[in-house]
Amino acid sequence: MADNTTTSGEDPFELHVTPPDVPELPDHVRADAPGTVARPLAAPPSASAAAFTADVPGERVDAPTADDLWADPAPAAIEGPSARTRRRSMLRPGEGPMVVFDDVTMTYPGNVTALENVSLTIDSGEFVFLVGSSGSGKSTFIRLLIRELQVSSGHLMVGTRDLAKLNSSKVPYLRREIGCVFQDFKLLPRRTVAENVAYTLEVTGESHRDIRRKVPEILSLVGLAEKSGRFPNELSGGEQQRVSIARAFVNHPALLIADEPTGNLDPETSIGIMQLLYRINRTGTTVIMATHDRDLVDKMQMRVIELSGGKLVRDQRRGAYQQGGM
Ligand SMILES: Nc1ncnc2c1ncn2[C@@H]1O[C@H](COP(=O)(O)OP(=O)(O)OP(=O)(O)O)[C@@H](O)[C@H]1O
Ligand SMILES: [Mg+2]
Repeated sequence: MADNTTTSGEDPFELHVTPPDVPELPDHVRADAPGTVARPLAAPPSASAAAFTADVPGERVDAPTADDLWADPAPAAIEGPSARTRRRSMLRPGEGPMVVFDDVTMTYPGNVTALENVSLTIDSGEFVFLVGSSGSGKSTFIRLLIRELQVSSGHLMVGTRDLAKLNSSKVPYLRREIGCVFQDFKLLPRRTVAENVAYTLEVTGESHRDIRRKVPEILSLVGLAEKSGRFPNELSGGEQQRVSIARAFVNHPALLIADEPTGNLDPETSIGIMQLLYRINRTGTTVIMATHDRDLVDKMQMRVIELSGGKLVRDQRRGAYQQGGM
């Protein structure tokens, strides 16, 4: 990012940005021709790209091309981590799988087994949906990844780290490298949008100068540049979720995990959130998203991991929410 973004003069908010190479949306979610496709709720478009046209930030009637989707609002902000960030990473992403569950069992106090003998590998750069009925173990899976919980048996690796062996004093550093997005947003209510995002950078010791540069960039990415001075309770649910994504991504984490990020949002708003996560994934960030949202999962046709009663029952490369079903 630093390579193609410079500040000039005395105003660090003045950005001069050269767009990076524009990645393409996959064929099945791309609008091939700009034109007349309506917004998804008005005209549900089977498994087509039109579903992804409820763009961030604005209202638009025509389906954009892939180029349109990537041309705005702030391409520089969606680049992957800088070489410096990668060097300082404790996870060392890019040198192997991002996540390895090796025969993981997790039992809560009271003898509730939430995950049972789960083995799987998620490579760096993948986008993975985690599905399953209520109580199947999705949130447990995610909470293990940020070491909110520990495995009862088996091994869990994130990057090059065996989480069972990670000293508790290192856990905050682990969490700095994993962006987290939750259903209930978890924003700081007394801080503005910009301050919520800046807080993440303050915690990681960024300079004021970098914070003043990065915050408007990332807010522009999520389409909230105009609302940086608002407080969370002055935003819609979709806008609040975009703030939480901005906050999760502003450090360009190697891994971004989202637990039901669209759970409180209407279908149209959910598509905008999904699109943001997809764009983030295209920068190289591994994204794991637990969801009940059948429509989104079916349309994206990404890898689907399904849990049932704590067991891994499906791991499908280009899946639909229900096996065989669309
Ligand atoms: N703190 C806890 N103590 C004891 N049991 C728990 C705890 N948290 C979750 N469980 C149990 O572990 C199992 C898995 O729960 P988990 O929250 O991982 O499911 P989930 O797939 O995220 O469900 P949902 O879709 O409803 O969010 C459930 O049986 C649940 O009751
Ligand atoms: Mg859950």
